[in-house]
Amino acid sequence: MSSFKLLQTFTTSLVLVVIAAPLGCVVAQAQRHDHAAKMTAKMPWMNKSLSPDERADLVIGQMTLDEKIQMVHGQGWGVLKEGAPLPARSNFAAGFMSGIDRLGIPDINLADSAVGVRMAAYQGRYATLLPSTLGAASSWDPDSAFLYGAVIGRELRAHGTNMSIGGGVNITREPRNGRNFEYAGEDPVLAGTMTGYLEKGVLSEHVMNDIKHYAINDQETGRTVVNVLLDKKAMRESDLLAFEIAIAISDPSGVMCSYNLVEGDYACENDYLLNQLLKKDFKFKGFVLSDWGATHSTVKSALNGLDQEMPGDDNYFNEPLKKAVEDGQVSMTRLDDMVHRILRSMFAAGVIDHPPVRSVVDPFRGRDDAQHIAEESIVLLKNSGILPLKASPSASIAVIGSHADVGVLSGGGSAQVDAPGGNAANPQPGGSKWGDAIYFPSSPLKNIQAKSPQASIQYIDGTDTAAAAQLAKTSTTAIVFVNQPMREDVDAATLSLPNNQDALVEAVAAANPNTIVVLETGGPVSMPWIDHVKGVVEMWYPGIGGAQALANILFGEVNPSGKLPVTFAKNDAQLPHPIVPGLEGVTANAPNREHKVKPFDLKYTEGAKVGYKWFEATNKQPRFPFGFGLSYTTYAYSGLTVDDAKRTVHFTVRNTGKNEGTEIAQVYVALPSAANENYKRLSAWQRVKLAPGESKDVTLTLHPLSLTIFNTEQNSWKLLPGEYNVVAGPSSSDTPLKATLHVHP
Ligand code: BGC
Repeated sequence: MSSFKLLQTFTTSLVLVVIAAPLGCVVAQAQRHDHAAKMTAKMPWMNKSLSPDERADLVIGQMTLDEKIQMVHGQGWGVLKEGAPLPARSNFAAGFMSGIDRLGIPDINLADSAVGVRMAAYQGRYATLLPSTLGAASSWDPDSAFLYGAVIGRELRAHGTNMSIGGGVNITREPRNGRNFEYAGEDPVLAGTMTGYLEKGVLSEHVMNDIKHYAINDQETGRTVVNVLLDKKAMRESDLLAFEIAIAISDPSGVMCSYNLVEGDYACENDYLLNQLLKKDFKFKGFVLSDWGATHSTVKSALNGLDQEMPGDDNYFNEPLKKAVEDGQVSMTRLDDMVHRILRSMFAAGVIDHPPVRSVVDPFRGRDDAQHIAEESIVLLKNSGILPLKASPSASIAVIGSHADVGVLSGGGSAQVDAPGGNAANPQPGGSKWGDAIYFPSSPLKNIQAKSPQASIQYIDGTDTAAAAQLAKTSTTAIVFVNQPMREDVDAATLSLPNNQDALVEAVAAANPNTIVVLETGGPVSMPWIDHVKGVVEMWYPGIGGAQALANILFGEVNPSGKLPVTFAKNDAQLPHPIVPGLEGVTANAPNREHKVKPFDLKYTEGAKVGYKWFEATNKQPRFPFGFGLSYTTYAYSGLTVDDAKRTVHFTVRNTGKNEGTEIAQVYVALPSAANENYKRLSAWQRVKLAPGESKDVTLTLHPLSLTIFNTEQNSWKLLPGEYNVVAGPSSSDTPLKATLHVHP
């Protein structure tokens, strides 16, 4: 064949392909439309142009009583209890609700995923470990929070799972709470905002999202028996404000009610919390699901607002609820409302229109995202001229303790993510065991060595204090890694580091004046050795990219920008409750201590004065204040002005140092004297990225709920007329700028 003919044939086929391809597309598209049209005719609720509420009601119109009952309770303990039957279609998530096949309603697999997807190893799957949410809150960056949630959503979809049950937003009222690492700190506006954006990120991946543990479940000790007493005004202005803000931002599919009682009623059958507040005042449109085993009744729970029972040892929402509906104790209207809330959330999240597609999780993308968040989360607490370190062939660095040769610590309990390859500190086949301190394979030692390849870097595990001190003595620098493993079920008995680690730091610091301490903690800890060390870095539980992020910060490739979302007290005696309520008589941080104690009342006399508000109101100086964090550059603040009408503030931040950096500029407000408050409130903040010498003008809107008090008689937020003292600066205790906001009656 001549080359011309060849070309002609090729061109003709190309034309045919070019014509055929769109034709093929058109045919496929038409077939799809046809299929969709048939589906919509058979199942009108599949019509995407209808609202989630309309679609839910159309389904309910077709449902039998048994089908409705099926939707309002989970199918047993499944994967969570050894020997419990696993529903045939369960995806090995913590909870399972059986869908209704004949109506095209899929199952809901509810997966624990506070800091990454739980229970992956049992299925031979992989999940990215993100920094603890408390760590991520130190970034004060809603974009990072959104990214955090999107990673979780993305990986849940890849696992074929359609609901996340993370979203913990209990404020750090009790700094020794075992679950603080799953939450977002002590300030309701910061915690609510960060958790809200995180859960918005989950939803952006068409995965149902959740906010928990509603409400005032601020400690693990006695969590199933404690009756929390807190007046309504204080509740609204503290714990519940965090929920209110997070719910408004994230439009959650579910809110998980907690184990404890609040003012005499269990949280999962609490009319005030569920009906009056959550569903009415907060306008929550999704469904209330119980924590596992937190349901205590059938009729009372159903009437007082619980919509879905998750497993416990008793069952209240299957046969007993059916009977209660048949007897008229629970109306069909209420049962329909329960089902409506579940279905409308499924439609709204997109789990019906965009069901998850199983695929391989992208571990590289997840690791990069985790490292980025860690780099924004690590907080530099002390730096007496020792950091950043310089790569040097003559340096000798002693890396001490906390398995820093192999990995970084993660948080436990139902937030535990399985480490790829098993626990780096003690590899064994299978998933993580409840109660074990699990280390992830991100080696500080290797990453420090990579930054200073010619330096001599040696590791010692720190169990022998004298040997560690000896190594420190013969090194130019000592970096001591200390840890505080925390998990659901157990609070720390004290703020002190466990396992004699304070003595380890003291011994190393005595042997080498160039000592840096790296903290891997769930929350605040005391630092009796603070004056004897030159550097302190809080890296929280930093996630799978943690060691890389840390090395970048230690060697100045990343300038630290994180700021504390919690106050670090000097010691337990400074706290509103010097002993964790229920732990009287327990003085040491023993592992595996049971949380179960006899029922007791826990009166939070400090009211809304949580964290920095408590320290300010009682005139105490903490070790490190809320909002504190250092950088390798310096910043100057100037020119605060306030716009009374718009309730905005304006000021300038300048980088006065030699390195590029990001400053988290903070604005606090003290209410007029009629509010009778002797503390200020966080009202606004912004991350400001600045080159050396650069200035930026910042305009921020004061958070409306940071300006108001809650009036219980009128059940509404009130803006008091008068003068508001507005201050701005780098932390809650360093606010060089002052101005006044006038609110006219
Ligand atoms: C925890 C929840 C968790 C659930 C399912 C409970 O013990 O409090 O946060 O989602 O278990 O694992």
